[in-house]
Amino acid sequence: MAGIKSIGILTSGGDAPGMNAAIRAVTRSAIYNGFAVKGIMRGFKGLVFNEIVCSNPQSVSNIIQLGGTILKTARSRGIHHDRGRPQGGIRQHGGGGHRRSGGDRRRRIAHGRRLFAEEYNVPIVGLPGTIDNDLGGTDSTIGYDTALNTIIEAVDKLRDTASSHERLFFVEVMGHTAGYLAINSAIATGSEAAIIPEMETEVDQLAELINHGFRKSKNSAIVIVAENPKTGGATALAERVKKEFPQYDARVTILGHIQRGGSPTAVDRILASRMGEAAIEAISTDSAT
Ligand code: F6P
Repeated sequence: MAGIKSIGILTSGGDAPGMNAAIRAVTRSAIYNGFAVKGIMRGFKGLVFNEIVCSNPQSVSNIIQLGGTILKTARSRGIHHDRGRPQGGIRQHGGGGHRRSGGDRRRRIAHGRRLFAEEYNVPIVGLPGTIDNDLGGTDSTIGYDTALNTIIEAVDKLRDTASSHERLFFVEVMGHTAGYLAINSAIATGSEAAIIPEMETEVDQLAELINHGFRKSKNSAIVIVAENPKTGGATALAERVKKEFPQYDARVTILGHIQRGGSPTAVDRILASRMGEAAIEAISTDSAT
């Protein structure tokens, strides 16, 4: 793909802490390597509705520490259908390379990439950005470490009240269909159990784990439950436990979107910066051939 002059950058899917660090790294590396950079607002919707702005090194000043994404984001499911894709927006802006940091799934990234590559002859480099850490081929996705630390902070606080009242807490965390956030936050907080979508857990198995905790002279228990629309997550599980084991004084806390916010950790800032720079290196190498 020789002769790339301009790079468009967008964020899509659920926002993840570190996306701004990635935007900054891509923008600055691209400009350093002689590319013009354009910011595409609101994910792929920005291409459809032509919401494209020019970027310069100053546009990305003081954003490395910010959560969310300055380019806004959207799920943009429509791009997978013909009528939902841009009508010449890329060409109008002299498009060449196109770099994406987003939380949509790997399959969809590959699909989106293929669509753009085939229809517009535009290469896409995707950076893995999601708190769920559920993209194959990556050890850690941008945003995962921050979300994990947010959960740990919340669970440590819940432990104080759980132990004061001698209660059993079910804490629901995000993860889409993956249990990474649940299992690793459970390990890091010394929780009694983690319920993850990858493994079926019966209520009596769970009760055994909780009993085990109480037997070890703990007077409270915390169970981390990965969100799961199929089973009803922490709320449904707590209802069953309350019914079958009324001796426990159970409570439910759903951490929800708080897990997606906040200033990125050092791990996420560094990962995002390195990946952003690597994306431009990939495009530069491609462009030179
Ligand atoms: O993909 C990240 C994620 O936070 C998932 O963990 C969660 O299931 C989903 O997004 C929630 O999406 P929305 O913000 O669109 O409700």
